[in-house]
Amino acid sequence: MSVFSPSSPLSLSLVRMTVNGRPVEREAAASTTLAEYLAGALKAETPERRRAEGLEGPAVVMMNGESVKAGLVLAVSAASAQIRSYGGLARHDGVLTPLQRAFHEAGAMLCPDCAPSLVMSALDLLNRNPIPSEAEIRDWLEDSLCPVSDADRAVAAVLAAAAATRS
Ligand code: FES
Repeated sequence: MSVFSPSSPLSLSLVRMTVNGRPVEREAAASTTLAEYLAGALKAETPERRRAEGLEGPAVVMMNGESVKAGLVLAVSAASAQIRSYGGLARHDGVLTPLQRAFHEAGAMLCPDCAPSLVMSALDLLNRNPIPSEAEIRDWLEDSLCPVSDADRAVAAVLAAAAATRS
């Protein structure tokens, strides 16, 4: 539904999607990124809240089961999608998933901006390949690592999570 003239750069559309299992309906401009849309939908107004939802740094979320960088996807192109943010991973009782636990136990949650995105990216990898090699993990996570990220801890966490799933 266009709110203003469709030709205006300020034209807004009503965009619906499912975020962490809940239907969401919000207006978005053509240039609104999925990260901006989700920050509004999840009431993540402060940096702390955005970090808790994994919307800082690379801002990796699951979109229809695949990891995407929410800052590089337009909200309008995510219409009707199923989105899961890092904040939506833990069960309602706050219990961490095995993958989140593995990241905590490996000391791989050091950077609050990047670590949630690494977890989401690793989740996508493990969904595709439950037994990845160390090289495959490094290669997969490379895109979500900044120059000072501790890649070794993240890789160790993913290996541990994969091993825990097998046992
Ligand atoms: S900004 Fe997070 S590790 Fe670099």
